This record gives sequence, C-alpha cells and structure tokens, in this order.
Amino acid sequence: PIGLATLYPSPVIGHRGACALAPENTLASFRQAARDGAAMVEFDAKLTADNRAIVFHDDDLERTTDGTGPVQDITFEALSGLDAGGWFSPAFQGAQVPSLEEVLDCAQDHDLAINLELKPCPNRVEETARVVLATAALQWSADDRPPLISSFSRAALAVARDLAPSWPRALLCDNLPDDWREQAAILRVQALHLGDVELSPATIAQVKNHGLAVAVWTVNDPERVRFLLAAGADAVFSDDPGAIRKALG
Ligand code: G3P
Ligand code: MG
Repeated sequence: PIGLATLYPSPVIGHRGACALAPENTLASFRQAARDGAAMVEFDAKLTADNRAIVFHDDDLERTTDGTGPVQDITFEALSGLDAGGWFSPAFQGAQVPSLEEVLDCAQDHDLAINLELKPCPNRVEETARVVLATAALQWSADDRPPLISSFSRAALAVARDLAPSWPRALLCDNLPDDWREQAAILRVQALHLGDVELSPATIAQVKNHGLAVAVWTVNDPERVRFLLAAGADAVFSDDPGAIRKALG
C-alpha cells in the first residue's frame, strides 16, 4: 500500500497552482505556489485539437484567455498565441497556456509534488487519459515521486489504472456517491478527493475507516481547514496555499 506521506507531502495543496495570486494553471501560478512554500500543486490536464497535452481547466477558452470557442477545437500553436494572464490582472498579460511538459518541468525544477487531474473534454475521455499519461510517463523516472492522478471521470481513471498501475489514483467527487466503495475497488484508488459541500466529520471518518485517504477541495478559510484536518482529512486544496500554511502555523 502507498503511504499517506507519498500521496500528500503536506496537508496544503496549491489549487491550480496558487490561483488566488496568479492566473490559474499557468507557470506563474505554479512558481507562486513554490515561492509560498507549497509542497504540492494540483492542475487540470486536457488535449488540444492536435492532441497536445495542455494544462487548462475549462472546456472553453473564454473565461481564462482572450480566445473563444472550445479548447478541443484549437491547435497548440494557435493556443500558444493567446493571452492567458490578462484576464486575471494586467501584470500577467502575455502568460501562456502551458503544455503539460512545461508544467512537469516547472514542478521538477521547484521540487513540487503534483496532483494531475485528468479533465477530458467531452467525447475525448479515454484519448485524453492515454495521451496525458504517456506524456507524463516520458518525463518520469523510477526514482521520482509518482504523480497522483485524479479525475471526476471514472473512465479516465480506469485508463490510468491500466496504463500506469503504479501511480496512485484518487476519485474526485462533489459529494460522496452511493457506490463509492465499489468504485474505489474497481478503480483501485488510494484516495477520494471530496468537494467541501457540507462535508461532515462522519463522512470523512467513514472513508478513512475504509482505508482510503481524503483530500478536500477547495478550502480557503483557515478555520475550515483546521476543522477538516482535525476531522481526519489528510489534505486540502487551497487557492492561496501560502496564506493557509501561514495561518496553520
Ligand atoms: O482536484 C480538485 C479540484 O480541482 C476539482 O475541481 O473544477 O477545480 O478542477 P476543479
Ligand atoms: Mg482541478
């Protein structure tokens, strides 16, 4: 079994880097998380039209770039010409949507552990998981701490289970689904990543007693972080990991 220290090197995970302080899922955001002492960052991976693995959250370009339309319809070259920072603040104008390789390099340079969330666009679930995992595997050596692979998509996690069986996995859920025990067994996950939707200590205890780790997203209130960790959660995802670390002392 994979120990908790391997899954989460510290209880505070930088969500999309440090997305309260820099544009989410950009290199600037991951560098910010590293500067603020985060030991681990989470990010979202998907594919461009020409099958390049990129780090990007939404299905569409509008919210976090100056482009329009579905991400799955744009080539990597065209995507690289878009501004992914100006929407956040003028100071970040010119930031690009990074390739997965760039983000993995950045994480390795800054000694950041990673939680790679498979975030496939519609109808590209298996393909996304295959390409993203193959891309990450090229950059991984056996001595490195393995990335923690997570997804809301059970089909994507099944691909991860089959292609990268030794890399730990987490099933993402908003609420605890009724079939969580069955799914955890089928997908052979080590953890559940639960949304902080009125998450109770009893729910956390139930999952922990079943032998699974629990990380909770997205928690930005230090009091709530303390409460969840005291209730047995192993980690939380936060948009400002430095502030949470400071508050925890
Ligand atoms: O992986 C935790 C969290 O990122 C899941 O939700 O929408 O922020 O990717 P989302
Ligand atoms: Mg995510």
